[in-house]
Amino acid sequence: MSDTVKIYVDEKMMEVPAGISVAAAILGHSHSHNHSNDQSRKAFHNNSMDASPRAPYCLMGVCFECMMEIDGEANVQSCLVTVQDGMQVKRQLNTEAFHYKNTEDDLPENRRTNND
Ligand code: FES
Repeated sequence: MSDTVKIYVDEKMMEVPAGISVAAAILGHSHSHNHSNDQSRKAFHNNSMDASPRAPYCLMGVCFECMMEIDGEANVQSCLVTVQDGMQVKRQLNTEAFHYKNTEDDLPENRRTNND
């Protein structure tokens, strides 16, 4: 058995240690190869409510901040999935369709900021 596997993250190949989680693989790879301060390039997905960039926090399946598309399945907790050779992983950065669309008029009266 090889000590490493090749996964594809947003179509870029990464050779990562076998047996670790997808989240750990990407975090480890990002640390050594991503020198950008652009938060969106470090995000695993965007929050569906406010589109803020999100990345793994707990690494044990509790926070859901590590969600990614893995082998065509969306919203997978990448910290709970072990890397497999040839695995296709995508960051879920385009959440425009899921943005919170409610307006002030949809909020209860006591939560509106404009109470004219
Ligand atoms: S990092 Fe918290 S659920 Fe994956």
